[in-house]
Order: sequence, then C-alpha cells, then structure tokens
Amino acid sequence: MTKPTAIISGAGIGIGRATALAFARVGYRICVTDILETEGKQVAEEIKAGGGDAYFRKLDVTRSDQVDDVVGEIDKQYGGVDVVVANAGIAHKVPLAQMSDAKWDITVDIDLKGVFRMARAATPRMRERRKGAIVAVSSISGMSYGWAEHVHYSAAKAGVLGLVRGLAAELGGDGIRVNGVAPGFIRTAQSLSEEHSMGEARLVAQAPSIPLRRIGEPDEVADVILFLASDAARYVTGQTLLVDGGLTIKQG
Ligand SMILES: NC(=O)c1ccc[n+]([C@@H]2O[C@H](COP(=O)([O-])OP(=O)(O)OC[C@H]3O[C@@H](n4cnc5c(N)ncnc54)[C@H](O)[C@@H]3O)[C@@H](O)[C@H]2O)c1
Repeated sequence: MTKPTAIISGAGIGIGRATALAFARVGYRICVTDILETEGKQVAEEIKAGGGDAYFRKLDVTRSDQVDDVVGEIDKQYGGVDVVVANAGIAHKVPLAQMSDAKWDITVDIDLKGVFRMARAATPRMRERRKGAIVAVSSISGMSYGWAEHVHYSAAKAGVLGLVRGLAAELGGDGIRVNGVAPGFIRTAQSLSEEHSMGEARLVAQAPSIPLRRIGEPDEVADVILFLASDAARYVTGQTLLVDGGLTIKQG
C-alpha cells in the first residue's frame, strides 16, 4: 500500500512542527512547509533521522502560486494529498486606534485566507479520488474568547469556523471531511511573545484558572489534529474542537 501524504503549513516550529512529527510517527509522508526555511528543513531532517519520510518546501500561505505549486507537485509525484493541515498563523498585537487596513489585511490574509488557499489547492484531486481530510487551526479567540488588541486575529479565527462548516457542507458528498481545532493557551513562540501575546510570566500565571491547571503543549494539539484527520473521526465533519484544558467552560 502506498503511503498517505500530509501537507502541513507553518510546520517549522510550534503546533505545526508537533503535528508533522505526530503524522510521521503513524506512517504519513510529510510535506513540511513554512516561510522559515532553516526550521522547516530541520523538522524534515528530524523525521527522516527517525526512519520517517518527509521533505521541506518553502511555502508562504499568502501566495496562491506557491500553495498551488507545492500541492500540484504532490498530486503529480504521489497521486494526491491525503491530509491538509492548515496551521500557519500570526497573532499581532494592534490596538484598534492603530489598526490600519494593511495590518488588518495581513493577519486575515494569513490566518483565514491562507486556510482557504490550502483547501482550494488540494480539493480537486481529493474530489477525483473521493477521499481526503482537511484540518484547520482556529483558536479560542475565534470560538468564544474575546482578545483585546487582537480584533483582526479574533475575526480571522472566527472566520475559520465558518470556512470549516462551509467546506464540510460542500465537500462531504465527495468523501472529503473538513474540521478544525481551537487551541487555548499552548506553549509556543506565539504565546511566549512578550510583544504580541502573553509572554512567559503571564502565560504561566494563567495555569491555575485552567481546569486542567496547566498550559498546553504543542503535541497535545497535534494529537487532536491527528485524530480529526484519521478514520477514527470518519463520521465527524464541519466541527471545530476546543483543545484548551477546559479554559473556556470554566465559570468564575
Ligand atoms: N500558541 C497558542 O496558544 C495558540 C492558541 C490558539 C491558536 N493558535 C494557532 O496555532 C497555529 C500555530 O501557531 P503556534 O502557536 O504554533 O505559533 P508559532 O509562531 O510557533 O508558529 C506559527 C507558524 O506559522 C508560520 N507562518 C507565519 N506566517 C506564515 C505564512 N505567511 N506562510 C506560511 N507560514 C507562516 C510561522 O513561520 C510558524 O512556523 C496558528 O494558526 C496560531 O494562531 C495558537
């Protein structure tokens, strides 16, 4: 049997990297993509060193031509993409008074339109093969959590929920499932950024108010992405699953 292929955006670090490692462990060929070349190549090397199958392609999710080329190469070389993980994202802190059109656009272009571009590129071949799974990475900020000075991020991540539902409705008849994950506070470069997010001290300080009493790790999101892409979730589509240690269901 030929190996299934997963393409993951923003897979050089953080949740994307953990997802690449998780899929590699269960036998996927991984197309590791990122704008971070050194980190992305390292992830592919790490997978290969562990006996897995992976390669790196530089891919900026704001560039339709790059997305189409990298996916087109998989279609030709390996028969098609089995799983898309649309993970790439940025979270820039911008108070509303300083929110220029350009600042709004770049976040929405990466965090929302980037997901759409990945799905658009992979689905023609998925439709022909009548199989495929797409998992998009949203956020608690798109689901239920207001994040001040990140309104563009919150709007883009809420948009991902609609995109997931719309795609699931449109593609279900072709055997393609589309789901999302909405991570809470996960220890990555994004959340540890003092400038744009919480930073180490504030992040750690959140732990006692989370029902599971700790900050999440990237592999804990990766495992849920793996589940949603797997046959174990074969009757699940159009859903976005919170992976937040219970943060958003806590009262008081
Ligand atoms: N860490 C958290 O607490 C948290 C919470 C909710 C949602 N998320 C989401 O999880 C996803 C992964 O983030 P992370 O926490 O691992 O952060 P991270 O900063 O470690 O990783 C983000 C990745 O996206 C890549 N990226 C950025 N712009 C890109 C572009 N234009 N094209 C391709 N790749 C690009 C980065 O190079 C990086 O590899 C993001 O969508 C993020 O918004 C994270």
